[in-house]
Amino acid sequence: MTKYKGATIWFTGLSGSGKTTIAIALESMLVERYNRVYRLDSDNIRLGISKDLGFSERDRRENVRRVGEITKFFSEAGFIVLSSIISPYRAHRNEVRNLHESSNLKFIEVFVDCSLSEAEKRDPKRLYEKARKGEIKHFTGIDDPYEPPEKPDIHLKTDMSTLEEEIAIVIEYFEYHQIICASRLDED
Ligand code: ADX
Repeated sequence: MTKYKGATIWFTGLSGSGKTTIAIALESMLVERYNRVYRLDSDNIRLGISKDLGFSERDRRENVRRVGEITKFFSEAGFIVLSSIISPYRAHRNEVRNLHESSNLKFIEVFVDCSLSEAEKRDPKRLYEKARKGEIKHFTGIDDPYEPPEKPDIHLKTDMSTLEEEIAIVIEYFEYHQIICASRLDED
């Protein structure tokens, strides 16, 4: 069980880009081969630990900071943590990276890249529609910024690839960087 070190896998991207979909698919795959996996996303965070926060830059920073502290604890405990929150500001994400790296913990930033037009077309929660009508203010990508990572550890283009292809890219990265081993745990 303690053979592998934990790591934080930080998915960032627009609402509707596919962060949670990819994290859920990865989670089930990783659970089969590595039994300490924990997934966090805005649905469970903003209903609980961040329920006092809104979407101003200051509140988003605090949200990212809280999620970063949680992912740090779990990765310290040896978990692979899958975090999917928009985290639109580069500086906030870099703060979380520094938090991890200063404790010798792996932090892998995954840019879930999807054009705004495609995310808006998907609009699974109909939030873009509301944002366009002005019913939601400061919506990321509409009237609030999204700063793409300059050098993400992994760059997925979800409007140009399939979920299977994206998962394969992430798993290959994990194996190459020895975040997980190539064989199943019980085969070692
Ligand atoms: S973050 O910017 O602080 O990282 P987070 O990922 O937790 O955001 O929350 C984003 C989710 O909250 C979106 O997927 C959407 O469902 C919802 N949401 C509600 N209002 C906004 C808004 N103004 N901007 C972005 N997302 C919003």
